[in-house]
Amino acid sequence: MNVKILKYDPSTDSAPYYKTYNVPWKKNITVLEVLVYIHENHEAIAFDYSCRGRVCGRCAMMLDGEPMMACYTPVKKDGDIVIEPLKGFPVIRDFIVDKSKILERIAKIEARVRSKPLVESDITAVMDPALAKKIGDLEWCCRCLSCVAACPVINEMKDPEKFIGPAGLVALGLRYYDPFDEADRIIEAVQNGLYACIMCGNCNNVCPAAEINHLEVYSELRKEAEKKGLKT
Ligand code: FES
Repeated sequence: MNVKILKYDPSTDSAPYYKTYNVPWKKNITVLEVLVYIHENHEAIAFDYSCRGRVCGRCAMMLDGEPMMACYTPVKKDGDIVIEPLKGFPVIRDFIVDKSKILERIAKIEARVRSKPLVESDITAVMDPALAKKIGDLEWCCRCLSCVAACPVINEMKDPEKFIGPAGLVALGLRYYDPFDEADRIIEAVQNGLYACIMCGNCNNVCPAAEINHLEVYSELRKEAEKKGLKT
């Protein structure tokens, strides 16, 4: 198959450029295996991966214009494909992009907040299984930021500080459901752009974690915001 990839080393190249390589196709070959083949048989390319199982989130990139995880996305047939770095992020080199701006914002909100110390009854209490499932599902978010690459709002927003994006809203949803967290996550969600989201569902469509229902999380946060009179 012919594999066209977008290469760019800002320290030496004046602009990104495409280069095409021939790679033997085989059934179930993943995008990551395609990149490894090029790296080992044609020339060095920079890309990042670790777990090979949609857990670390490091291998997110674009295949034929759609965000996906290279480690578990197969190239379905022998033909021409285009692989590009994850859309919307500054390129450090080839497929390595700088996600720090959004990840640092998420890190600031994701820490659990407690106003009172834990007591014995907190520790021994049995969590409602339905709530435990909701929390467990959101914990599948691996911060690959494919959702951000697919989000029309964050990519067109002139002031990204006004919207934390889908991964950030999922992190806020997780803390909102978390019975050990005592911060007001509804106010935080509104302040971070809960109503900037247009509920298009692109984030849900590209998310590698089928366990996460993005629109359900945003709807529940909105319902609570409305109860508090915080709808903007
Ligand atoms: S290598 Fe970890 S998610 Fe793909």
